[in-house]
Amino acid sequence: NGGAPDAKNLRVKLVLLGDSGVGKSCIVLRFVRGQFDPTSKVTVGASFLSQTIALQDSTTVKFEIWDTAGQERYAALAPLYYRGAAVAVIVYDITSPESFTKAQYWVKELQKHGSPDIVMALVGNKADLQDSREVPAQDGIDYAEKNGMFFIETSAKTADNINQLFESVSVQLS
Ligand code: GTP
Ligand code: MG
Repeated sequence: NGGAPDAKNLRVKLVLLGDSGVGKSCIVLRFVRGQFDPTSKVTVGASFLSQTIALQDSTTVKFEIWDTAGQERYAALAPLYYRGAAVAVIVYDITSPESFTKAQYWVKELQKHGSPDIVMALVGNKADLQDSREVPAQDGIDYAEKNGMFFIETSAKTADNINQLFESVSVQLS
């Protein structure tokens, strides 16, 4: 790649998990296409997208992204997507305590059944909706720290921290 001598090309399987409506598909759309869709439709089964980024040292990281469906009826499919994943991004909506509880369920499920060296990130999305916030940032910080996870709040709507999320995950892998 013509970069630094220690530059690498990584391929990373990443899965997004979390309650329906928390904004998983919007996070992926923002990251991959730089767009936001206020009329985003619920995901059926799962969808696949990929995106490559370059890090400071010229290492490239190709993310192979599985965007899972959060509706309860698809919960049994999740292992198909998180099995073998190097990274799990577990998303909740900062305006929804129920979605924060659901995120904790996914963390426990991955601790039991995910790859033992999986990198987990906890993401509080919809950070643009500060006036409707019901999950304090500190609750996310504390839970992530207890479980050895990376934590960030994002907004797929404003693009706030979306690239940072994927860059931070990359740095932990490279
Ligand atoms: P499932 O596919 O059912 O699991 O849902 P999902 O997590 O993929 O949710 P999706 O990305 O489809 O977003 C659900 C709704 O939340 C849509 O109406 C989005 O426009 C809205 N939304 C997503 N991200 C944000 C955000 O950062 N801020 C705001 N204000 N709305 C958002
Ligand atoms: Mg979706």
